[in-house]
Amino acid sequence: MASTVITGISELWTFDPALEDPSAPPRGMSDGQLLRDAAVVIDSGHIAWTGPATEAPAADDQADLGGRAVLPGWVDSHTHLVFAGDRSAEFEARMAGESYAAGGISVTTGATRAARDEELLALVRSRITEAVRGGTTCLETKTGYGLTVDEEARAARLLAQLHAAGEIDEITYLGAHLVPGEFEGRGEEYVDLVAGPMLEAVQDAAGPALRWIDVFCEDGAFDSEQSTRVLRAGADAGLGLRVHGNQLGRTGGVQLACDLGAASVDHLNHLDPADVDALAATAALPVAPGEEPGVLDARTGPTVATVLPACDLSTRAPLAPARELLEAGAQLAIASNCNPGTSYTSSLAFCVATAVLQMRLTLAEAVRAATRGGALALRRNDVGHLGVGARADLHVLDAPAAIHLAYRPGMPLTHAVWRRGTRVL
Ligand code: NIG
Repeated sequence: MASTVITGISELWTFDPALEDPSAPPRGMSDGQLLRDAAVVIDSGHIAWTGPATEAPAADDQADLGGRAVLPGWVDSHTHLVFAGDRSAEFEARMAGESYAAGGISVTTGATRAARDEELLALVRSRITEAVRGGTTCLETKTGYGLTVDEEARAARLLAQLHAAGEIDEITYLGAHLVPGEFEGRGEEYVDLVAGPMLEAVQDAAGPALRWIDVFCEDGAFDSEQSTRVLRAGADAGLGLRVHGNQLGRTGGVQLACDLGAASVDHLNHLDPADVDALAATAALPVAPGEEPGVLDARTGPTVATVLPACDLSTRAPLAPARELLEAGAQLAIASNCNPGTSYTSSLAFCVATAVLQMRLTLAEAVRAATRGGALALRRNDVGHLGVGARADLHVLDAPAAIHLAYRPGMPLTHAVWRRGTRVL
């Protein structure tokens, strides 16, 4: 692959981990992580050099961005892209005063089971395309709308296909999304299935591309004891852990995630001070056991507090306390939670603008959370920053300064995207 020098960069936000203060989880930008009038050299799909444009080395090719701001591509650490059907009527009813109930998941489960493989693949691919057009270059997505052994395995197999083609980066098994109708009143039996034969079938279907197991720990879904059972089975099978927690109430998800060493607990709309403290306490754990940019061990590191601003707006939930979490010292991520029920958008630009305008984050804090924070929630240090050796995933804004993301919310500010060193937009 030829090397390329990219010039005409008014602001280059590197979030280079080498410049982070190891004694404190950084909130926004550390000294030296923002370069002005900068250049980047990419080589063989990776960042080879960053610095002042006047000192840029020569390369095989050249691209001039004409004075635009460049960020690391967004790292979306929480999406549910494998689904069919439409739930816009449920959203409309919510905007008219209904409250969100997780039961809507079963509507999507019905439509997803009825869709043929090719239909589902085409739907997922169209959602990936939307995400990339908005600047997302690293994408996690989950099973969770099949909820039978065969259907969860099918979703895992389709995701493994997309993973092999480089279209998604991370796969999560979410058989514990909801107890499906066929198991009504037999939740324990369903948990046995999720933690046993379904887990095995999903691992067989996805192979080593499957890195995570997740559980919706909530009243009406899975209680703490059931969630623990599911997560322990996943850990025994070699998977890293993720939790949907404290979305609808104080149901113990955060404590569970921290106790079991989950990589991330997501939603966080209803927290006690003890939850905030527990998350902050994990932030002191090393995030990068190896210095080389790469995919880290899924089983060790901080439990990242992942907030989902678009979901909070779409469900009219109390906004997750992102400011308080950061000030307490927690590692913070922002993700889209793109799904048909609670957040049908993959726009991280929208989430970042909301985090600034509504959650009182600075732009640097919000952008870090949607790049480096998302990467840490996936226990990766090869993406989410533009330090030397990182994957060359670049998000070029059609703006001279990144603050335009919040200053001009809703405007199409993605000008160009490089993914793994190739310009894809
Ligand atoms: O993350 N909370 C659980 N799962 C999804 C919603 C799924 C749905 O309603 O379809 C979420 O918000």
